[in-house]
Amino acid sequence: MTGRVEGKVAIVTGGASGIGAETCRRLAAEGARVLTTDVNAKLLAEVAAGIGDRAEPLIHDVSDEGRWREIVAHALDRFGRLDVLVNNAGIAIQGTIEETSLETWRRIHAVNSEGVFLGCKHAIPAMRASGGGSIVNVSSLAALRGTPIYAAYSASKGAVCALTKTIAVHCIERGDAIRCNSIHPGGVNTPMVHALLKQGTGLDVAAMDPVVVRENLGMGDPADIANLILFLASDESGYVNGAELCVDGGATAGTPPPRPRAAAS
Ligand SMILES: NC(=O)c1ccc[n+]([C@@H]2O[C@H](COP(=O)([O-])OP(=O)(O)OC[C@H]3O[C@@H](n4cnc5c(N)ncnc54)[C@H](O)[C@@H]3O)[C@@H](O)[C@H]2O)c1
Repeated sequence: MTGRVEGKVAIVTGGASGIGAETCRRLAAEGARVLTTDVNAKLLAEVAAGIGDRAEPLIHDVSDEGRWREIVAHALDRFGRLDVLVNNAGIAIQGTIEETSLETWRRIHAVNSEGVFLGCKHAIPAMRASGGGSIVNVSSLAALRGTPIYAAYSASKGAVCALTKTIAVHCIERGDAIRCNSIHPGGVNTPMVHALLKQGTGLDVAAMDPVVVRENLGMGDPADIANLILFLASDESGYVNGAELCVDGGATAGTPPPRPRAAAS
């Protein structure tokens, strides 16, 4: 199937790396115009250049409300509509409840939860004027399970999950055809996880074969997540609203960690 989001205009935050970059590629390949935004100008330009004229890179710190206004206005000025918002940008810093400083707590929340609040707040009127839309908020498995070494991160992702349902019901009550769903990835093979694992365990996942990472560490690939986002961005998911969707290879259901496979003889 092709053209699954043909004619739609999308904003994807954190589009310079990992899940966001793959999401931009998938949406563009299926016919969307993508405004890909990030704080990392160099990587952002590389990702957009790799996609071609269906992607436009925009420097954007999601914790900056003024910049959100400009990004949404740019979508309307350039394309006359906004159909899809993927709130994907995020940061993760390790720390238990006892180790986490107030400064770290606020920094994580400024990006992971306030950034999502601002994006939704400013995108909704633009989507309403476009006749509807789909918001996909990238939360985490950490919002649904106790993850002691990510106290602030987990809480910020829990806020995203709750806000998502609030937005979905708000839009239903107003009669807007705007859907809002949160997705909850488990471990995904991206630079974010590479940095965290290197720091926590010394493991150099970036240097490992992605197939081995998947089979031995049970991690998903960015494409696994981007495919769910594509579905939620498309009209195929028209009856999916206010949901929290896990994309974690069964981790939430209680799947034990994978057993390393014996090397082929
Ligand atoms: N990788 C995982 O295992 C995993 C699991 C669950 C949820 N997530 C979530 O998925 C999302 C994407 O993560 P990823 O793994 O692709 O990480 P990543 O580090 O590869 O990409 C995150 C991107 O967000 C950008 N970013 C950071 N702060 C920003 C800001 N203030 N404004 C705009 N952009 C900013 C970064 O520059 C980077 O390009 C995050 O919200 C993350 O919390 C990731």
